[in-house]
Amino acid sequence: MEVIIQPIPEAATAIALRAVADLLRKKPNAVLGLATGSTPLLLYNALTAMDLDWSKVTTFNLDEYVGIPAADSCSYHSFMWQNLFSKVNIRRKNVHIPDGMTNDIPGHCEQYERRIRDAGGIDLQILGIGREGHIGFNEPGSSLASRTRIKTLTERTRKENARFFKAPATVPLHVITMGIRTIMEARVCMLLAFGAKKSRAIAAALEGPITSMSPASILQMHPRAKACLDTLAASRLKHLEYYRSVYDHKPKWQKAEIF
Ligand code: GLP
Repeated sequence: MEVIIQPIPEAATAIALRAVADLLRKKPNAVLGLATGSTPLLLYNALTAMDLDWSKVTTFNLDEYVGIPAADSCSYHSFMWQNLFSKVNIRRKNVHIPDGMTNDIPGHCEQYERRIRDAGGIDLQILGIGREGHIGFNEPGSSLASRTRIKTLTERTRKENARFFKAPATVPLHVITMGIRTIMEARVCMLLAFGAKKSRAIAAALEGPITSMSPASILQMHPRAKACLDTLAASRLKHLEYYRSVYDHKPKWQKAEIF
């Protein structure tokens, strides 16, 4: 995995921003995998300020809460429309977010997988990371071969995400999330993490053993995974200086080229 460490979140976001912008310019009908949470907000803000054509772009979001209607302000549908989709010229029919209100969860999950395949697969998957190493909502213990399915949130994740809800008790127990294998099939994975509170999860994922106890650690098996971190999120990495040196000494052509 390529580890890119920048002094502040804005600088780390700029790397991901360049990757998305390059992709959309080179491949107007690109397929993006998108994440929610506070981490990608800087990226989405920056993207909406750019003059990019989203008219042929297709997106697949990682996850959604079960039992929360799309129109609810706590849904990931609302999050995505508010922070990105309403501000770019994407076509509604090209936006895919799991439906937390479906009455056939297994059937819906199978269809979600099929839609990703029919779209030609995900070119670039943006990822955040949970405090216990989850990607999407694949909590510790998730099968590393999993596909889109229902998952039960840990109490820790429910507490973490309570800030987006009116009361902690209203955070759903269940979610629909892309599986780990689904994520691993993306051609490029970009993991963003900022702040000291992510440093343990990042150290475990990047330098620890590959284990379902740290679901993000599977990215070590991805041929084109990049972690864009700020200094605080990177602070527990053992090989910090090596990663910095690798990035600083990259040939210019290689630095500029993501797609
Ligand atoms: C949620 C999302 C994840 C996200 C994580 C981290 O649980 N399902 O996709 O990576 O939160 O959130 P934040 O970026 O707010 O720290």
